[in-house]
Amino acid sequence: VMETCTCTAPVNMAVIKYWGKRHKDLVLPLNSSISATLDQKQLRTKTTVAISPSFEDDRLWLNGIEERVDTVRIQNLLAELRQRSIEQQSCPQEWFSWKLHVCSENNFPTAAGLASSAAGYACLAFSLAVLYRLRGDISDIARRGSGSACRSMYGGFVIWDKGTKADGTDSIARQLYPETHWPELHILILVVSDQKKHTCSTAGMEVTVETSSLMKQRIRLVPDRIKEMTSAIEKRDFHKFAELTMKDSNQLHAVCLDSYPPISYMTDVSRQIVHMVHEYNKLKGQNKVAYTFDAGPNACLYLIEEDVAEVVSLVTHFFPPIGPTEEFYTGLPTGSVA
Ligand code: DP6
Repeated sequence: VMETCTCTAPVNMAVIKYWGKRHKDLVLPLNSSISATLDQKQLRTKTTVAISPSFEDDRLWLNGIEERVDTVRIQNLLAELRQRSIEQQSCPQEWFSWKLHVCSENNFPTAAGLASSAAGYACLAFSLAVLYRLRGDISDIARRGSGSACRSMYGGFVIWDKGTKADGTDSIARQLYPETHWPELHILILVVSDQKKHTCSTAGMEVTVETSSLMKQRIRLVPDRIKEMTSAIEKRDFHKFAELTMKDSNQLHAVCLDSYPPISYMTDVSRQIVHMVHEYNKLKGQNKVAYTFDAGPNACLYLIEEDVAEVVSLVTHFFPPIGPTEEFYTGLPTGSVA
């Protein structure tokens, strides 16, 4: 006897960043964040989950390598999932004593700051929710795996409301606008390095919250930025959208540097990309491209479709690709979990 289910989940790229928690185990953030979900054609995680009475233990393989399942994150995610299926009486009762096998693969570098944990945990939560036949929003289940994962549960532009309740029930993701709202918006990912990052986001944000005084200022400022960003997206005002995206990325990396000991994710190449984007925008007399960086050196560029060709040629001129040019992923911020 065995039940299986295979799902894929997309990556999302934040334009107003999540950095810092108000509750560690529940993965509750200090501020709300906004992202766009990418098309699943380029970057995605694919996960197969299987449940069977003949499995002796819960086991998990990531890109073919067995990983531990006894982490707090995975145990919390599984506990919440099982709890909800009990409440909803969504699956046969004997399943609660059966063990799970999970097999997950990314079609892009893992843990290089390419939001692989977002797609990974979104996919894990989603495929288990399908297997257990859960109903309703499950972004809070994905959130327990990795905060940013909750935003990959929806397509288009997504907000993760920080919520105010202590139990985190209002800390969930919701779609602001569907992918059809701004179809001309494209994303280019410039893979500066596919090496694993040195400080994972979880540890990095802890140091920032404990030691950075700039972070206190950031937390006061983000709510206004969320409003401004929502309105820029609503109006499809690229100039403003780009300004806010770049400023928020810069602020994230500023609070990282203000942490003690300091955390630096960006490299010389990342900074050259920042410089190139500002020079390009200055030449054009308005913002035509926006960069944003997560917890790694890779750049994510937001731009309008008609500018993609010119920007790609500019990038390949200044930064000749060392790998195949498919590494310059282009894609619409579309798609949702399927
Ligand atoms: C810089 O979601 O990876 O990408 O909740 O501790 O797993 P944990 O952190 P994670 O942090 C992502 C941080 C970021 C910004 C963002 O995606 O909003």
